[in-house]
Amino acid sequence: MADPAQALAYAEADFSESNGLFIELFRRLHAAPFAGRALDLGCGPGDIPIRLARAFPAGRVDAVDGAEAMLDLAHTGTAGDADLAARIRWICARIPSAEAMPAAPYDAVLSNSLLHHLADPLDLWRVVRAAGRPGAAVLVMDLARPEDVEGVDRVLAAHAAGAPDLVWSDFRNSLFAAYTVEEVRDQLAEAGIAGMSVEMVSDRHLAVWGYST
Ligand SMILES: C[S@@+](CC[C@H](N)C(=O)[O-])C[C@H]1O[C@@H](n2cnc3c(N)ncnc32)[C@H](O)[C@@H]1O
Repeated sequence: MADPAQALAYAEADFSESNGLFIELFRRLHAAPFAGRALDLGCGPGDIPIRLARAFPAGRVDAVDGAEAMLDLAHTGTAGDADLAARIRWICARIPSAEAMPAAPYDAVLSNSLLHHLADPLDLWRVVRAAGRPGAAVLVMDLARPEDVEGVDRVLAAHAAGAPDLVWSDFRNSLFAAYTVEEVRDQLAEAGIAGMSVEMVSDRHLAVWGYST
């Protein structure tokens, strides 16, 4: 997704349903309005950090992505809004490289649709583990891999019919690359992360959520 055309196609796709779900799940983790520092890993063109900052006017977000092309688009989302620009930092850093990663600890560690992009999924869980203070809210959402190719086709028919070719094929590749709930539970155990719920939260997404220990 470092390619500008691919980044733009992604930014122009409509993820309002899943990004809205992400914010709703985060609200469930936080009975009180969030007023701390959140880290969003793999923020892409920035819709989730912007939604989060709008939903929680006292919150701050450090939003990290490895692709300059994505961050260029993210910057346009906060340009002209002094409040958002002051509370969201766009940071170019590539997991697992520690170079340019902002300093922990955070009050919330978040990520949507990054896990299946990483060559080693444990790279994400190591960052999640290191970045949250004890008690920090953790919410990682991603696509869940359907059982078989017919399952992939059903998700595509339900959610990507009519999407531009680039978005459709990215979505298809992502569904095949994604993990199952059981696989993610194994990853968490291997990374030494305990006490998280891992469950399906839509017909195509799983979420890992809970509090850092
Ligand atoms: C599918 S997009 C998700 C973007 C955003 N979280 C959202 O929900 O719209 C995945 C993002 O992860 C970024 N990414 C992939 N591998 C990465 C890595 N190793 N380190 C940091 N970002 C990465 C990509 O550049 C891309 O912006």
